[in-house]
Order: sequence, then structure tokens, then C-alpha cells
Amino acid sequence: MPKTICILGGTGFVGGHLVNRLANEGWQIRIPTRRPERHRQFLIFPSVTLSQTNIHDPEQLAAVLQRCDAVVNLVGILNEPKDDGKGFERVHVGLAEKLITACEKQGIKRLLHVSALQADAEKGSSYYLRSKGKAEQLIQASGLEVSVFKPSVLFGAGDSFLNQFAGLLKLFPFAMPLACAESKFAPVWVQDVVSALVYGLNHLDTIGQTYQLCGPKPYTLQELVAYTAQLLHLQRQIIPLPDGIAQLQGRVMQALPGQLFTMDNYRSLQTDSVCDADDFARLGIQPGYLETIAPTYLAPSHQREKYHQFRHLAGR
Ligand SMILES: NC(=O)c1ccc[n+]([C@@H]2O[C@H](COP(=O)([O-])OP(=O)(O)OC[C@H]3O[C@@H](n4cnc5c(N)ncnc54)[C@H](OP(=O)(O)O)[C@@H]3O)[C@@H](O)[C@H]2O)c1
Repeated sequence: MPKTICILGGTGFVGGHLVNRLANEGWQIRIPTRRPERHRQFLIFPSVTLSQTNIHDPEQLAAVLQRCDAVVNLVGILNEPKDDGKGFERVHVGLAEKLITACEKQGIKRLLHVSALQADAEKGSSYYLRSKGKAEQLIQASGLEVSVFKPSVLFGAGDSFLNQFAGLLKLFPFAMPLACAESKFAPVWVQDVVSALVYGLNHLDTIGQTYQLCGPKPYTLQELVAYTAQLLHLQRQIIPLPDGIAQLQGRVMQALPGQLFTMDNYRSLQTDSVCDADDFARLGIQPGYLETIAPTYLAPSHQREKYHQFRHLAGR
């Protein structure tokens, strides 16, 4: 009898990659979403069910979890309508509370929760990181069979990190101003995060554990943007913005449609997103290098095949 899993936030970046992997491993997959009509591509898998569900409604949440063997929580937001923490609180903390209650009600024990590296309920001024930290605390204290995964920034086909910089670099013909240029990240390949989650589902010794997930190498934001420009064959000077101007940019841009950069993004960038432990090793996973993967989706299209073949030969 195939096992059934419910993936909250399954329509997103990590979700798309995870669903692909789990569908091929024989799982029956339920994905509640606010807008099923936007995610019909998931229906190519006969084992996937998309449902229009308001997961913030306890009854609808309990209904979608009925008879599931496990739940993965991938719901997360980077921006909120007002810079007051309430949006983050609702989506991260409020949902975690409701999810715990719904799992208890439906007798579901196994919960995999994706948080964020440096998420901390007590430290730092970023509402995003504090609310992610609070959610983590609630979930860890829940009594469910929980594993928590805390990735640094993710990259991979369809990411909104390097792809966003690629878009911005094309907008600025000669030089690109960059806020928080010295902030550090250890970008982690989305497929490695998916491997960590799949490992978690298949290994009971991951219950009660928290894993920091980092790529093999840290970079400053400036290095990452310069690397993106290099991949795109764009000659661009990257101009680090002084701190005061970076804050001003956050204040102005959070009021604009799309919220490309906000004050809370600025605040979370004050903490380097790098790991202090190699938790991939605990999962038996060797994370991929940015330089072997990013060219396969960021390089000019006529060169991508060459990078794919080369990576294939290298066994990644
Ligand atoms: N991407 C990164 O670089 C990164 C780094 C560190 C941690 N993380 C964490 O990893 C998890 C997955 O990230 P991701 O990049 O896959 O996220 P994503 O692409 O933004 O997808 C998140 C999903 O959550 C759902 N969602 C968003 N806002 C919601 C709301 N207000 N109510 C209900 N559902 C909502 C959306 O589903 P529908 O629109 O279909 O309802 C969406 O598909 C998140 O928890 C994120 O915080 C991501």
C-alpha cells in the first residue's frame, strides 16, 4: 500500500523538486494550495492531488491531512504587507500552531519542517528570522515525530535568488548598486535539500533532529552577483551601497509592487547565512558546488547543454 504525504507549500520552489522525487519513489502526494489553477503542471503525476485549501482554516487543514502518513511544511514568506511582523507571525507561527493541532487531531505523527538557517526566536531584529525561529520551537516541542531542516539560501533551476540577480543585472547596463554586499551565504542546491528531506522520511533516526543545510562554500553577496554576471557574460561593476543608503533602499522598495527588497530583508542580511556544522555529512549527502550547477540553468542557452553533459560526466 503506497504511503500518503501532504506537502504544505508543495507548489513552491522546493515543493516542485520534492514532489518530482517523491512521486518517482511511489508516494501518494496531496498538495493544498490557494490557487490550484496556477499549478496544473503537478497533475502530470497520477499520484498527485491538488486541492484548493485554506490551510489557515483549522477544519480545511485537518481535512487535507486526513489519513496521511507524513506531512512536510514548506510554507514560508520573505515579505509581509506591512513591516510590523504580523504577516510573518501568521504564516510562520500561526500556521505551525494549527498544523500541530491538526496532526494531533488526525493521528499523524511524522512531520518534516523546513525553517531557515539563523532562524532564532530570541535573537536578531528580523521578523522573518524570529518568526521562523518561533515556529521551529513550537514544532520541536510538539511531541510529534519531528525533523527540522534549516537551509541557507537555495539555488537551482527556477530559483528566485540567482535568477533575480540575473534579471537585475540585465536592467543595469554598466554598474549595479548592491545593498548588504558583504553579507555571507553558503548557497545550497535545492536537490540536496530535497535529498535531505527524502532521507528524513526514510530514516527514523532523523526524528528529533535539526539539520543546518549549507553548500560546500561560503560567498559574499557581492561575489555571488559578480559570478552571476560572469555566467551571463555581462560586464558590470558592482557598487556596494553604504549602510544608510541600503536602509533607505529597503524603506522605499518595500512600498513598491513586488517588494524586491524590504527593511526586513535588510535586517535579516545583518546575520551571515553560514553553517557552524556540517549536517549534510550526518545525512550521508555531499552537497553540490554552485559552480557545477548554476551554469546549467544560468549560462546563455546555447551553452547549457555543454554544462549538463560535463556535469553528467562528473557524476553530478
Ligand atoms: N528559497 C530559499 O532560498 C529558502 C532559503 C531558506 C529557507 N527557505 C524556506 O524553505 C521553504 C520553501 O521555500 P520555497 O523557496 O520553496 O518557497 P516558495 O517557492 O515561496 O513557496 C512557498 C509556498 O508556500 C505557500 N504560501 C506562501 N504564502 C502563503 C500563505 N500566506 N498562506 C499559505 N500558503 C502560502 C505557497 O503555496 P500556494 O501559493 O500554492 O498556496 C508557495 O508555493 C520555506 O519555508 C522557506 O522559508 C527557503
